[in-house]
Amino acid sequence: MTEYQMIDSRDTVYRDGTIKLHNEEGFEGMRRAGKLAASILDELTTMVEPGVTTAALDDKVREMTLDGGAVPATMGYRGYAHSCCISINHVICHGIPSEKALKEGDIVNIDVTPLLDGWHGDTSRMYFVGEPSIKAKRLVDVTYECLMLGIEAAQPGANLGDIGAAIEAHARQYRYGIVREFCGHGLGRLFHDAPEVIHAARAGTGPVLKPGMFFTIEPMINLGKPHAKLLNDGWTAVTRDKSLSAQFEHSIGITETGNEIFTASEKGLHQPPYR
Ligand code: MF3
Ligand code: CO
Ligand code: CO
Repeated sequence: MTEYQMIDSRDTVYRDGTIKLHNEEGFEGMRRAGKLAASILDELTTMVEPGVTTAALDDKVREMTLDGGAVPATMGYRGYAHSCCISINHVICHGIPSEKALKEGDIVNIDVTPLLDGWHGDTSRMYFVGEPSIKAKRLVDVTYECLMLGIEAAQPGANLGDIGAAIEAHARQYRYGIVREFCGHGLGRLFHDAPEVIHAARAGTGPVLKPGMFFTIEPMINLGKPHAKLLNDGWTAVTRDKSLSAQFEHSIGITETGNEIFTASEKGLHQPPYR
């Protein structure tokens, strides 16, 4: 059974399995955090090119996050020590920034989560390093479409499973693998909260979406099989078959009439190529 909990921004919020329903103050907080998150990804569009290390990108993310009056929520999160996740080619998610340099033809996901005045803005986009292959570009385009179709399905009165059903129907047309090991999540004052947003689901299943719910949608789509494998570093998730993987993520809020995307790019830099 699903339990909902109306929360006031002054309440202490626990990870107790309840779905939080936020008020206007929550929407305002998420708008500010989401806007900062999107502007960080906007800025990175000119930095992503062959030769740049993922550590340099991580430094830039940290600098912009702090300049924006926020802190990277990932720093110190369950022992994670970086300001963002950077996932290259067959890395599905949670790639750790390092001295490894990007190279021509790579496709890269950068995932940032500034924590601003108590609210989490969680978003990621794909970037092309130089010119991607036709196959890679199609995967990235379709993954972006999957995210946006999922968001369209996130309507008040709909079921959570309608989101995964919309994503699955689209990805299936291309015979892509939808990753099951990682999900979207409720967020707000907490980074990861209920509900779990599954990216391959049956329509009409799961909790009913209600105004005031905040969660991410973040489909991870593989060119090959859906299966993930965790590397020995305890973070990096890769495709088992080493096929390419793509992901986009937005943080959204359910409203009386639809939804609001907190992490939309104000510059229109939604998907690559960015120049
Ligand atoms: N930003 C990721 C998400 O979308 C979570 C990263 S947690 C980390 O949920 F510790 F790996 F950074
Ligand atoms: Co997320
Ligand atoms: Co994220």
